[in-house]
Amino acid sequence: MKRDFGTTAKGEQAFLYTLKNKNGMEIAVSDYGAVLVKVLIPDKAGNLVDVVLGYDDVNGYEAGTLYFGATVGRVANRIGGGSFELNGKTYMLTQNDNKNTLHGGTPYYDKRMWMVEEADEGHVSLALHSPDGDQGFPGAVDIHVTYTLTDENEVKIHYHGIPEADTLLNLTNHSYFNLSGHASFDVLGQEAMICADAYTRADAESIPTGELVPVDGTPMDFRTMKPIGREIGTDYEALVLGQGYDHNWALRGKGYRQAAAMYSEQTGIEMKVYTDLPGMQFYTGNFIERENGKGGAIYGKRQGACFETQFFPDAVHKEQFEGPVVKAGEAYDTVTVYQFSWE
Ligand code: BGC
Repeated sequence: MKRDFGTTAKGEQAFLYTLKNKNGMEIAVSDYGAVLVKVLIPDKAGNLVDVVLGYDDVNGYEAGTLYFGATVGRVANRIGGGSFELNGKTYMLTQNDNKNTLHGGTPYYDKRMWMVEEADEGHVSLALHSPDGDQGFPGAVDIHVTYTLTDENEVKIHYHGIPEADTLLNLTNHSYFNLSGHASFDVLGQEAMICADAYTRADAESIPTGELVPVDGTPMDFRTMKPIGREIGTDYEALVLGQGYDHNWALRGKGYRQAAAMYSEQTGIEMKVYTDLPGMQFYTGNFIERENGKGGAIYGKRQGACFETQFFPDAVHKEQFEGPVVKAGEAYDTVTVYQFSWE
């Protein structure tokens, strides 16, 4: 189902595509920014609970600066110094986070109209042509992002692109999840688990130092489920510098596997995250401040948590980190799944 989602400042018509599965789950995706606008899960009483933060229409997404539901690219997270070298050439990017580049820089992927290639009840495929020099990155690439809602209650996001020249690619989804409902309180009482034995240490500007720090004995240890807020206020370097959780965890293992989980006792909704990527930024919405959201909700600090699957931040400057260089003619092809269950 497709409905009007409003008109952008430039006069472009945006649409909202709704997908449904046989268990009563529904999601909605817009062709503006390829953003995930809604994820509706039936609760015990059969009412639908929307578990992602967002806005009511395209104008909300145009004005928003928090990346609600956003498809982030060409390179999610940070590139130190806002530049990098590839094949002996230096490329300059937007310095939008101190002197560093955050989430690709301008023009952001989530502030553009994407083209809908296919849409039905179960999936929607969106495409974006990113030209040579886009945001400062070399090599044109047609990016394809497909959202599928399966009968196994998975929101599956598939990313694909074959660049014309060697470049960097590292897309992610920036949804903020609140499993008690987007309009409820902060997520500090909800539980999370991250399948990682170490995280990447970062400086005061969130640029990794290159070191991997074991989570054992630290507040970064999410190897078993625990309340998100239990240790968030600890006087621990990473939490002080990040103003809460805003770090990349080095996921255990390789290939497609579980990365994380989240649970709300209040609704009984559980989410499991799966990916084939090496890292995940777990960000607890530390910088949300009185943001006007869907249906009149006002979102506050830590009202949602992001599970941003990715190559490690600043990997282009760290030999020991994998990615995110993709060679000309080679496929960038990756999948992340958010799978839901409820009592
Ligand atoms: C970053 C945060 C940033 C946020 C923007 C996250 O991916 O790690 O530092 O503030 O995106 O909403």
